[in-house]
Amino acid sequence: MTVVYHRPSRTTITASIPAAPANSDLANSHHQRQESALHQWRPGKPVAGTPGGGYGRRVPDAIFAHPRLAPIYDTFDGDRDDLAAYLSIAGELGAGRVLDVGCGTGCLAVLLAASGRTVVGADPAGASLEVAKSKDPAGRITWIHGDAATVPALGADLAVMTGNVAQVFLTDADWAQALQGIRAALRPGGYLVFETRRPGRRAWEEWAADTAPVIFDIPGSGPVEQRREVTSVSLPFVSFRSTYRFLADGTVVTSDSTLRFRDRSEVESSLASYGYRVLDVREAPDRPGREFVFITERTT
Ligand SMILES: C[S@@+](CC[C@H](N)C(=O)[O-])C[C@H]1O[C@@H](n2cnc3c(N)ncnc32)[C@H](O)[C@@H]1O
Repeated sequence: MTVVYHRPSRTTITASIPAAPANSDLANSHHQRQESALHQWRPGKPVAGTPGGGYGRRVPDAIFAHPRLAPIYDTFDGDRDDLAAYLSIAGELGAGRVLDVGCGTGCLAVLLAASGRTVVGADPAGASLEVAKSKDPAGRITWIHGDAATVPALGADLAVMTGNVAQVFLTDADWAQALQGIRAALRPGGYLVFETRRPGRRAWEEWAADTAPVIFDIPGSGPVEQRREVTSVSLPFVSFRSTYRFLADGTVVTSDSTLRFRDRSEVESSLASYGYRVLDVREAPDRPGREFVFITERTT
């Protein structure tokens, strides 16, 4: 058997669109930090998530929730050049208490905690959370098994959604509930920062053209082959299937995903409706022209 080791680049940068003007006043006051919920921020303190510890309205995709797929997620996801910008924004905003919504395997949460911040990571995919916890042996981070709509009121300075988490909310109702839930987790004047792919960039066309299998030899899992195919484009929804073959035992696990592509005006309108002011819309520095990065502030 020939095993091809190929590390896919996380993104392909083919164009650059000028960023929106940076807002140098973002961190001007940082407002007084609310102390009322500070007890919730002690490292390792359990915080109740979704009632019953269950999933949200939609069970997370297998790629995040399956016990054999979550441990291999980071390897196939590749380098996380995207996360440095979020660390930098947390610094710019003076955020000491950060909620990572849809934290997945915890890549950003551990970086935020290592930078001295108090961090809560929330995700409805238990298997991903187990991977995340394994990266936090000292228990510095509070992990919540729950979804965006049900995070507790934490008085957070900043909530982040990296890895295009915003696109998993397919219906207007799901998106509204996520925005409302996150808003309730923020202190007044707290920030929500997230990214979403620009529909005009039509990323799905590149995904559809890139069907080559990728194989990694992963400690604990052995060689694993990944194949991906776009199964439906019915804008604003794009669906794709990822198939993983564990070559050591022949197990095949598939994961079906659907993402919603929202345009900038649609996102801005929903943010205004649910109590956020848009402070800036930026490029993702590692993916110019591909994403909108919204820097927003809770208004009331
Ligand atoms: C592409 S991953 C990104 C993970 C992480 N933010 C990162 O950058 O590596 C999307 C994540 O969104 C999570 N997710 C799915 N539905 C969610 C919901 N309703 N609320 C919060 N997170 C959700 C998934 O379980 C998954 O971990």
